[in-house]
Amino acid sequence: MKAPVDLQSDVGEVLVSEEQIQAKVRELGARISVDYAGRELTLVSVLKGSLPFMADLMRSITVPVRIDLMEVSSYGGTSTESSGLVRILKDLSASIADEDVLLVEDIIDTGLTLNYLVRYLRGKGPASLRICTLLDKPARRLVEIPVDYTGFTIEDRFVVGYGLDFGEFYRNLRYVGVLRPEVYSTPPAIGEPEA
Ligand code: IMP
Repeated sequence: MKAPVDLQSDVGEVLVSEEQIQAKVRELGARISVDYAGRELTLVSVLKGSLPFMADLMRSITVPVRIDLMEVSSYGGTSTESSGLVRILKDLSASIADEDVLLVEDIIDTGLTLNYLVRYLRGKGPASLRICTLLDKPARRLVEIPVDYTGFTIEDRFVVGYGLDFGEFYRNLRYVGVLRPEVYSTPPAIGEPEA
């Protein structure tokens, strides 16, 4: 039976606190601002998980930025495993040809989604393409892709919060955490109102 979502008490452990995230976002923003000094930057973010990171990171960057958003989903897979087969639900809304592009990701797990996106974006002819991710889970990597800016390297656990979901919930937590084991075993049914 479907368990009701309880934002705070479903979390068993906080892995990265709000303060740690905010300090890291400022640090990454400062590094990116130095690296792109005197240039304009196009930030491409991937919905929905990267939304809070993108919103905070763009405000920590001091060079002029344009933003664009893509949305992708993986075919098949489960609520905690990505299948690697990527479908574009929302494409870029403008050309990135000859622009300096920074791809802003929430988390790199197997690397299959990122691998697809990098090849897709390279095909659009940007002047440069770099990658920034808030979280990296290297333990499960299937495709190695050099990442230019990494927030936190974490162990192989399924995490939620600060954009990341389980069954579409928990994205609005201000920290990154791990749910209690019993919550993962009874996933919330998406789109069903509570009885
Ligand atoms: P990858 O293709 O296996 O690297 O998976 C990338 C995508 O899977 C991320 O952009 C997330 O949407 C999702 N994902 C991977 N690990 C987690 C996690 O621990 N929590 C929530 N979503 C995750």
